[in-house]
Amino acid sequence: MIGQQIIQLHEVDSTNNYAARLLSERKLAHGTVILAEHQTSGRGQRGRSWHSASSKQFTGTYFLKTDFLSVDHLCYLNMTVALAVRQMVQSFTRRKVSIKWPNDIFVGDQKIGGILIETNWKNGKVEGTIAGIGINVSPVHSVAYATSLSELSGKSPEIREVLGVLSAKLNTFYALLEQSGFQLLKEQYESFLWKKDEEITLEERQNPVPFQGIIRGVDQIGNILVERDGVIQVYRNQELNFEANYSKVKM
Ligand code: BTN
Repeated sequence: MIGQQIIQLHEVDSTNNYAARLLSERKLAHGTVILAEHQTSGRGQRGRSWHSASSKQFTGTYFLKTDFLSVDHLCYLNMTVALAVRQMVQSFTRRKVSIKWPNDIFVGDQKIGGILIETNWKNGKVEGTIAGIGINVSPVHSVAYATSLSELSGKSPEIREVLGVLSAKLNTFYALLEQSGFQLLKEQYESFLWKKDEEITLEERQNPVPFQGIIRGVDQIGNILVERDGVIQVYRNQELNFEANYSKVKM
């Protein structure tokens, strides 16, 4: 069961690093989650750091033994985790919770959480996955476009409550992954894609000229499909910048 074994730490560099260390010593069982009150070097996507201003934030890493998954299906693992986190957040609010491709969790134009997935592969199989998840439980004042579970729900949820809901959702979606429910995962993921079918301003990171595009979905390997001047363009992870749509949002 995912989330049954819990390692609770007061302080650590990064729960992902901690998980990687345990994994290299073969001391991690499938489904174990590592939680920390404080991370001194929390890591985000694209080499960024992830700061959690107070201990009232969810910073945790799950270890998933995904050795049944071929490398070609790696994107479905990302969808599994993103869908579980999205559904956990949704259980705290009536507002629509979306997945900003590939795996940021947004409510409207505000980010509430992020995911950092690190995998190791062997012989074409994804041996193990370290899924680091950061969720704003209490308000984050340092980021203009951030929101939190407290602000959305009007309550101050306990970390253990967040963990309980998240683990339950992960078990559900992971079961689908195990049963090769790839098409269903993709359909669900696409149905929650942030700004899907809306005209938005985008930029290619390599050629930062703003253009209007419409997110239409993802392909079989998780690339995003963007309609641009009536033509579908395929973009890989990190090739696009979406920030024009939310970075100016004030809390
Ligand atoms: C992002 O949006 O850039 C991803 C953020 C992921 C942060 C989490 S917090 C728990 C885990 N440990 C880390 O060092 N990073 C992830």
